[in-house]
Amino acid sequence: VEHACPAARYAVITDSHVAPLYAERVRASLATSADAELFTFPAGEWNKSRESWGHLTDQLLQRQFDRESAIVAVGGGVTGDLVGFIAATYRRGIRYLYVPTSLLAMVDCAVGAQTGVDTQFGRNLVGAFHPPRAVVTDLEALSTLPPVQLAAGMAAAIKHAVIADGGYFEHLLARRDAIRERDAGTVADLVRRSVEIKSSCTAALRFGQTLAGALQDLTKYELLYGEALGIGMLLEAELGEACGITNPGVAARIGAALDAFRLPIEPPQSLDTDRMIDAMRRDAAAQHGTVRFALPKALGAMAAGELGEPTIAVPESAVREVLSRFS
Ligand SMILES: NC(=O)c1ccc[n+]([C@@H]2O[C@H](COP(=O)([O-])OP(=O)(O)OC[C@H]3O[C@@H](n4cnc5c(N)ncnc54)[C@H](O)[C@@H]3O)[C@@H](O)[C@H]2O)c1
Repeated sequence: VEHACPAARYAVITDSHVAPLYAERVRASLATSADAELFTFPAGEWNKSRESWGHLTDQLLQRQFDRESAIVAVGGGVTGDLVGFIAATYRRGIRYLYVPTSLLAMVDCAVGAQTGVDTQFGRNLVGAFHPPRAVVTDLEALSTLPPVQLAAGMAAAIKHAVIADGGYFEHLLARRDAIRERDAGTVADLVRRSVEIKSSCTAALRFGQTLAGALQDLTKYELLYGEALGIGMLLEAELGEACGITNPGVAARIGAALDAFRLPIEPPQSLDTDRMIDAMRRDAAAQHGTVRFALPKALGAMAAGELGEPTIAVPESAVREVLSRFS
């Protein structure tokens, strides 16, 4: 850590679940050469908020961390997004290092520069692009991750496979038992391949997320991010098939993969179609209020839009038709 992100003082920030497991180890390893203090916030997606941002920022100000200090974020995607946003804004931006501890964070959140918090108007609507100086991934952290959280991380890996690599999709299914048992070599390969895909495909990463964001808005915190992403991918693939964009059978294969990792394939409650469409229009990635989707053509290959764009506008009637099953 000192090598990747040198500083005279470190603020280690983590959530209340991860703190008792790993925070002291990280803090102690830094404290050999620098001053390292620990700050925690309550775990949970609902704490990825401006209130947590303000509270933690005030604590750093009170402890007089300056621009020569660095922050170390230790935790899942909530910690990465929240702490990254604190680093982006603290004294107009300071360095931070990210130690992802959930599978979702390792394969997805830790790659890229997106930071931010949720608001009552929608998720991730306030934030900044501020990449960590370095990411330090220790796969051993996965040993304490609850099974539902491991599955939520697999939703992101399945997405990477669908958008870029059909062989990887088959591999994930073939190795499902080894993955669920957290076999070190299998998981290391998976993290490596997903990180490669996440860093090279950009627009295609929207696949599943348009519907997932709306689902999360409507179901509040009943679905984990990864669970909503899984259902979002399934419904968007169905939408693609209904519009003749996605080859028949792709949605069924995605549904089977979600099932193999015990991810939900249906929303936990009935959905108000008008509210779903409204939520999609407010999404951080919507353009001029138009909802666009990144849709697969086949497993491992994305479809291109009218002028070769990576996202496609589909008729609202088709979206309503797919959602009608749950209304
Ligand atoms: N910035 C990005 O590129 C990006 C990409 C995808 C998702 N996200 C965001 O990531 C968030 C979801 O991430 P998440 O699923 O990691 O959520 P999370 O950070 O809430 O972690 C899930 C749960 O697992 C716990 N946990 C984490 N690591 C653990 C470990 N090793 N042992 C035991 N418990 C552990 C956490 O305390 C939490 O309760 C969402 O807010 C989403 O918007 C960001």
